[in-house]
Amino acid sequence: MTRPAFLLPDRPWNGLRILDLFAGAAGAGMGFWLAGFEVTAVDIHRQPRNPFPFIQADALEVLADRDFVEGFDAVHSSPICQSFAAVTDWRGSRQDYPDLLTPTLALLNSYGLPWIVENVVEAARFGPLRADHVLCGTQFGRNVRRHRAFQTGNWDFFDLVEPCRCHRNRDLVPFGHKNERAFADAMGCTWMTNLEARQAIPPAYTHWLGTALAGHLNAQEVTA
Ligand SMILES: C[S@@+](CC[C@H](N)C(=O)[O-])C[C@H]1O[C@@H](n2cnc3c(N)ncnc32)[C@H](O)[C@@H]1O
Repeated sequence: MTRPAFLLPDRPWNGLRILDLFAGAAGAGMGFWLAGFEVTAVDIHRQPRNPFPFIQADALEVLADRDFVEGFDAVHSSPICQSFAAVTDWRGSRQDYPDLLTPTLALLNSYGLPWIVENVVEAARFGPLRADHVLCGTQFGRNVRRHRAFQTGNWDFFDLVEPCRCHRNRDLVPFGHKNERAFADAMGCTWMTNLEARQAIPPAYTHWLGTALAGHLNAQEVTA
């Protein structure tokens, strides 16, 4: 399938390659690209607006292929969140979704390379995720309340980021069906459809995490 490469903003390659599992339309992938990574995307569904080299496959099967995975410098994964998200309870459909987070973490823990897993905050409250970083759009100059939890494996870092300012913030773009386009654009996901953006994260999160990850990987190379 031809990928829409014209979407990609120019940036220098940092020499590193990241595997982006459960990639969707590349909210997370775009952040890693902006941080300098070469990105390879995996999703079980066709993702015609994901601009990166793309593999349509089950992410868990890909993750079980050690020779393939070890060809990358790092792995990022966004397993579907519906089995933990509070909104699924309101819709009464939790049983319709498998927990793919638990097997993803188990497989990632069998590797020595650095990884990041992203999910809804409830996955840390009620599920197996450890919330090493909880990020909100307002910490990155984005007028959206979009809290997501990130666990890092085989690396960690301490860095300062703006505090979350979504509480009683009148400038926030409201989240809702009537407002989906404005919300997607405010997240920075301008190339996605509204439907794709519903599942996406603002690229700013992984731009920030990816910059720290590249610093970690480069520091390892210098000391090796
Ligand atoms: C939370 S969304 C990913 C959002 C994306 N990281 C972003 O920031 O734009 C989860 C994605 O997982 C995909 N998915 C669901 N089951 C999958 C599986 N078994 N293997 C690979 N992808 C899967 C869905 O098609 C969906 O695009």
